[in-house]
Amino acid sequence: MTSDTPALESPQKVDAGQQFIVAVRSLSPEDIEFVRRVLIGMSEQSRYLRFHSPVPIVSDWLCRNVLNPKDFECVTYLAEHHMSDRVEPIGFGQMIETGDGEADLSLAVVDVHQRKGVGHILMSHLIASATMRGWNIIQADVLAENTAAIGAISTWLGSPVSRHTESNRVKLRWHLTA
Ligand SMILES: CC(C)(COP(=O)(O)OP(=O)(O)OC[C@H]1O[C@@H](n2cnc3c(N)ncnc32)[C@H](O)[C@@H]1OP(=O)(O)O)[C@@H](O)C(=O)NCCC(=O)NCCS
Repeated sequence: MTSDTPALESPQKVDAGQQFIVAVRSLSPEDIEFVRRVLIGMSEQSRYLRFHSPVPIVSDWLCRNVLNPKDFECVTYLAEHHMSDRVEPIGFGQMIETGDGEADLSLAVVDVHQRKGVGHILMSHLIASATMRGWNIIQADVLAENTAAIGAISTWLGSPVSRHTESNRVKLRWHLTA
């Protein structure tokens, strides 16, 4: 069941620079539209990189699966771009516990807001939550061609402690040090 961090039930605003305000908050079951809008804001290539297979149509099933990934303990944060007249969903990041203090990481940022520090903001909240929960091994299953994600995650977590390549995918593991 999805569980959120109480401290972020209300959006926490972070200045990402260039008058770009991102609010990070925890996921709620009503957020299916939020998830849909983020996935629609990603190009087919970005969705392919996130889900490892082509996702030409953003279905209800897919959005619900992101919202509630089976019965695992999961932390999800959402990033919103706050403007004077509206709030735009721009990304989400998840860590899903896989047992023995390990968690799987995934991230998604809409194309027009990539490379503006949104992934960084989501990661800093995810890392704080993982530390609080005692998850000290973070894994990411990434397409080998996704050098941007591998580089980005290594920027936040340091060098991976292991790297296992199978076919076109790389499984990377990082130690989370408090
Ligand atoms: C990977 C992803 C989440 C990164 O999010 P982001 O908001 O763009 O990342 P940030 O702006 O916080 O970037 C942080 C650092 O990561 C690295 N990085 C991010 N995108 C990069 C790119 N396309 N190429 C090279 N380095 C990149 C850089 O070091 C960057 O710091 P810098 O901009 O100061 O140089 C985003 O590109 C994305 O959603 N991609 C599609 C889905 C995906 O691949 N998900 C990951 C699977 S787990």
